[in-house]
Amino acid sequence: MKKYITEFIIAEKQVFNSQYFSLTLKHPDKLPEIVAGQFVEVEVPGNKQVMLRRPISIHDVDIANNTLTLLIQVVGKGTATLSKLEKGDSLNLVYPLGHGFSIVGDKVLLVGGGAGIAPLLHLSKCLSEKGIRPTILLGGRSAEMIPVRDAFKPYGELGIATEDGSMGEKGLVTQHSLFSKDYDHIFTCGPTPMMKAVARHALEKGIECEVSLENMMACGIGACLCCVVDSDEGHKCVCKEGPVFNAKKLTKWINL
Ligand SMILES: Cc1cc2nc3c(=O)[nH]c(=O)nc-3n(C[C@H](O)[C@H](O)[C@H](O)COP(=O)(O)OP(=O)(O)OC[C@H]3O[C@@H](n4cnc5c(N)ncnc54)[C@H](O)[C@@H]3O)c2cc1C
Ligand code: FES
Repeated sequence: MKKYITEFIIAEKQVFNSQYFSLTLKHPDKLPEIVAGQFVEVEVPGNKQVMLRRPISIHDVDIANNTLTLLIQVVGKGTATLSKLEKGDSLNLVYPLGHGFSIVGDKVLLVGGGAGIAPLLHLSKCLSEKGIRPTILLGGRSAEMIPVRDAFKPYGELGIATEDGSMGEKGLVTQHSLFSKDYDHIFTCGPTPMMKAVARHALEKGIECEVSLENMMACGIGACLCCVVDSDEGHKCVCKEGPVFNAKKLTKWINL
């Protein structure tokens, strides 16, 4: 799939709370096909201390308007600099990168935690376009840590789990009443312990499962080897051969 290095203009910025914001980026030309789970490498403008681009999932795509949206959590210098950008500023992206989710299944569960909910919105839409209505489980420490919720509602049954009980069921996503229902496919993205627990459950129950890893990255195109995961088929570059992997190929990573 062809990659592009190109400038986008920020068409809309939404600030959800002190940690989460989204940027809707518009391009003058028609966007290429973007598979759910693919990501962009964002150049961080105006901060000389941040040399490397930052990998961010493609949260939403609007082909008719040539826009894509990124949902970003502020965790360090790069994301803090991005959070100061405003409507009208430009942003340089390399995209679309990586290998995304399969758009398959009948009884499908999506499980997202923290910033890992980002790729699941585009995934929900792609599943919906194929007539698949997933169950969508989103988790976080508190309601504030699940900034996007309503946008998912048109595409499936939505469940929320918060550790402090401030929204939805109290506890982890893996303790939610929807989690242990009958599914044939599970797709997950979020904190590593959450994804390992989800993948372990899926493998034990014989459910097809794909996980989207968020290993630290530099080049984003398979050149520097800094993002490698020790898969059951040897070392794999998460940026190029992932970030989405079938859980069956990650049993060492899952610690089965
Ligand atoms: C494929 C992929 C998709 C991603 N999608 C999103 C997304 O949609 N939204 C989003 O908010 N974030 C996403 N991330 C994580 C995001 O790339 C990092 O949070 C960001 O690069 C941190 O940059 P920084 O300069 O702000 O922080 P830094 O100053 O580089 O680091 C600050 C802290 O964050 C930790 N950190 C840095 N990178 C990561 C990482 N990849 N995973 C876990 N901890 C990290 C560091 O160890 C450090 O403790 C994604 C990562 C990958 C690999
Ligand atoms: S980030 Fe360079 S090889 Fe993956």
